[in-house]
Amino acid sequence: MGASSLREEEYELKDGDRMKPITGQTQTNPSESSTHTAGARIVLMGPPGAGKGSISERLADKFGMVHLSSGDILRAERSSGSELGETLKKYMDAGELVPDEIVIKIIIKSISSLDSSKGLLLDGFPRTVIQAKQLDDALAKAGLPIQAVLLLDAPEEVLLKRITGRRICPKCGRVYHIETMPPAKDNICDTCGTKLIHRDDDTEQVVRERINLYHKETEPVIEYYRKSGVKIIEVNADATIDEVVERAIEGIRQANLLEKEGRTSL
Ligand code: AP5
Repeated sequence: MGASSLREEEYELKDGDRMKPITGQTQTNPSESSTHTAGARIVLMGPPGAGKGSISERLADKFGMVHLSSGDILRAERSSGSELGETLKKYMDAGELVPDEIVIKIIIKSISSLDSSKGLLLDGFPRTVIQAKQLDDALAKAGLPIQAVLLLDAPEEVLLKRITGRRICPKCGRVYHIETMPPAKDNICDTCGTKLIHRDDDTEQVVRERINLYHKETEPVIEYYRKSGVKIIEVNADATIDEVVERAIEGIRQANLLEKEGRTSL
């Protein structure tokens, strides 16, 4: 089935739709944030291990934006035991992309259930030019186009070290790294005491495949956005998480995506 066979009304976004909590999405309390992105819609891109998940959580916290991770949403469906979940497992464990016709339907439906009035950070979607075009169509109908791409990158050996050392709490989703961010007690989540897991697709062989696919299928999306006039904010992610967050915030500021008045704490 090609992406074009999807019925448009199944994934149309409507302005004013409200947030429903779905696993894989984070919405922080905007009143806790001292800065705003004035409802900016940003796509976070970068190869596996660039730090998309880690950075977007921190940015969502700071700016009160909604963070939507396609990987988290697909993993939640995968562990639900549904028939669709079994199909997803096959692609994800092999490090392959889930076919466009499946992923577009799931993710655009999730976006449409959000209140993104404080801004939206899309992490891991779109990942192909077809996905980007379908997202643009859906957002255009709601009058809410993507305004910027935040592009993280780091050398391949750094990416491999980060991914193979990553450990995740299957209960609360907290992310660790065995060297750079270990839990206080070996292999146990600091937050909820659950045993940490190593993602099935985080082996060196599968990560190499995911990196190759990133170059082949996802890098053309950057060019697609560049040609569409979307701002590309490039961030060197070969630094500590704090430094990468600072660089990302500075990039967002320079792209004029911050609400100006009274927002001086950056
Ligand atoms: P997804 O979960 O999106 O995986 P990914 O894009 O490969 O990204 P990762 O989550 O592996 O890396 P990240 O950049 O978020 O790094 P993180 O912050 O966690 O997708 C998984 C699969 O789902 C895909 O392979 C595909 O099958 C499917 N899928 C998802 N979206 C799809 C789509 N749109 N279309 C089709 N299929 C789709 O950091 C990694 C580790 O490094 C952590 O341990 C962290 O603590 C550490 N770390 C991060 N930054 C730093 C730093 N600056 N310094 C030191 N350590 C760091």
